[in-house]
Amino acid sequence: VSLTRIESLIARMTVEEKVGQLSLYAPAAVDTVGNPQGARQSEEEQLAEIRAGRVTGLFNNEGLEGKRRAQQAAVKGSRLGIPLIFGADIIHGFRTVFPVPLAEAASWEPALAERTAHASAVEATADGFRWTFAPMVDIARDARWGRGIEGAGEDVYLGRQFAAARVRGFQGPELGRADAMLATPKHFAGYGAAEGGLDYNAVDLSERTLREVYFPPFRAAIDAGALSIMSAFNEIGGIPSNANRALLTGVLRDEWDYQGFVVSDYTADEELIAHGFAADGREAARRAFMAGTDVSMQSGLYMKYLPGLVASGEVPMSRLDDAVRRVLRVKQRLGLFDHPFRGLEDTPGPRFDAAAHQGLAREAAGRAIVMLRNDNDVLPLQKSGKRIALIGPFAGTEDLFGPWRIFPGQQAPMGIEQAVRQSLASPDLLTVVRGSNVETPIPGGIDAAVAAAREADVVLLSIGENEQMSGEARSRSDIEIPDAQQALAEAVAATGKPVVVLLRNGRALALRGAVRNARAILVTWFLGSQTGPAIADVLFGDINPSGRLPVSFPQTPGQVPYYYAHKRTGRPQLADAPATFYKARYLDATNDPAFAFGQGLGYARVRYDALEISPARMDWNGKTTVRARITNTGQRDAEEVAQLYIGNRAASVTRPVRELKGFRKLRIPAGQTATVEFTLTRADLTFIGQQMTPTVEPGQFDLWVGPSATGGLRTSMTLAPGD
Ligand code: IFM
Repeated sequence: VSLTRIESLIARMTVEEKVGQLSLYAPAAVDTVGNPQGARQSEEEQLAEIRAGRVTGLFNNEGLEGKRRAQQAAVKGSRLGIPLIFGADIIHGFRTVFPVPLAEAASWEPALAERTAHASAVEATADGFRWTFAPMVDIARDARWGRGIEGAGEDVYLGRQFAAARVRGFQGPELGRADAMLATPKHFAGYGAAEGGLDYNAVDLSERTLREVYFPPFRAAIDAGALSIMSAFNEIGGIPSNANRALLTGVLRDEWDYQGFVVSDYTADEELIAHGFAADGREAARRAFMAGTDVSMQSGLYMKYLPGLVASGEVPMSRLDDAVRRVLRVKQRLGLFDHPFRGLEDTPGPRFDAAAHQGLAREAAGRAIVMLRNDNDVLPLQKSGKRIALIGPFAGTEDLFGPWRIFPGQQAPMGIEQAVRQSLASPDLLTVVRGSNVETPIPGGIDAAVAAAREADVVLLSIGENEQMSGEARSRSDIEIPDAQQALAEAVAATGKPVVVLLRNGRALALRGAVRNARAILVTWFLGSQTGPAIADVLFGDINPSGRLPVSFPQTPGQVPYYYAHKRTGRPQLADAPATFYKARYLDATNDPAFAFGQGLGYARVRYDALEISPARMDWNGKTTVRARITNTGQRDAEEVAQLYIGNRAASVTRPVRELKGFRKLRIPAGQTATVEFTLTRADLTFIGQQMTPTVEPGQFDLWVGPSATGGLRTSMTLAPGD
């Protein structure tokens, strides 16, 4: 189908057929919560709709047969034979479950996320899906918000790298390939800034913060080739995103020249009524569509009202044609017109290399683990001669995957217990006691745990959050370890045995007491199919922990939203006199994190020194190079994530205390020294100026190179004025 063919198709389409290309549905017989009729459609009814040309695609419909029947109805049964597109929430794997996106961001290896996204696409396209509702690229700075688990954390720079990598991974080198999936950066925009961290809640963000913090990962995803974007549920400053013309048309199309289409979130157009932004469904459809939401997900409102709105002239035909053109062009790029049944053939046997994907899952999981403490080198553990008590509710095979386990057929994952037992010289060295449920005590559980700890040489304490505690609609007002597990941790620590905390978590947590003070802490997130083996790999030193936090861990829940790139205030807390009055400080906590953004340890120690910058005065059109030496002073090889931060001392708009501008993950053999080098140009010093456009101003900048957002070696530079 050439472009002219798309135009001639549009010329032949009825208004209803055009609106059909803008109407996306869950498969028949699922609980269509948002269906305006409140009814479930039978498959026959849905097929009839498809034959009538009233459906553009279906989503989250697992299995080949149903999709094949639906595609048959579209291609063979509808007047124009336009193929359907099948979409799904392929968020962190399909059959193979990879670590949740936040965990993958902890690897600080976008190239690894690109590989897992590609593997996910290979598996999902073998099931007929050509469109994923991923990556989620929302910046998340409030740990209460449950959906932070689906993104890359709090930082703009890291977020951009992962957004682009994931788009490349899903879409591959060419969208027309059979194993490529259309990526959907979401949710445009500001969804992660929901007030109080409450999912779906209102957002009130300045235009500057939107442009500087929330937009860049979307821009990076579009620059990487994304051709579908999902609008967000939330309002921003009084305008729901799904009907926000300034966002969806002004920024996306007019400023960024975005060529793809915008899909609503699930029934988000209908929800304009609940927002109080539309009086009824007709107004909701008009407002959403005219703002720039091209495709309506699930509500059916477009089909119900757009034909009438076009007839009355309230919606111009040119807007309808533009939306249809965007959708058809993407279908064409995917090769759907030429190969509508690709991926839907009934090929016997596995359609991908399952063993290779499990290997990738283990690699990704191992590299996502962040070691926050390892006092007296309690880790790595020996495989023989020491007795281990594994205590806590997360020893088994539950709660390994995290959210979006919506597709069956995933290979049974291996939990910590099984993997640790397999690693040990003798299985008898391991005792397992649950000790507590996730949120409620087990009668006698603490006593049993304490008894097991007393018999052991080391305790592995597997505690944290279960799968139900993060993800969509799963915000927490309290980001601490639930009380029942905290009590377990205190009792086990009181035995005096060395405790290694294995955190299961979908967000930054505020750790306290025995958990925070444990001898060792591993942040293990939700790691997917290979959770147990990956944790055992790190515990026994078969791999070196190399993850770093993509979110700051605050000291207390009351500090959230907490992020390192905060503004300064006129009365900053004094580092050397934190209790000084009339300063921006809490009475009961310093402003420091418990564990900083970027923080994480390996089994080797490294030392940073010899920071140099050359030249220290950068010409307006020049560049400068920052170098530091990193020496591995340990006995084992190291993997270090060297991070570069800058801070603008004074500008016409206040700037964060520091901002990440580069990082490198380096392998440094034991006893050796590496040099890390970053090059900066004026573009790296850009910010959104008073006129809301990208601006650079001459002046003085601090630079830090180090292992986290706190501390590091410091130098400074000047950007000279331009001519
Ligand atoms: O893709 C998701 C979105 O992130 C949240 N609401 C439902 C959509 C489709 O499942």
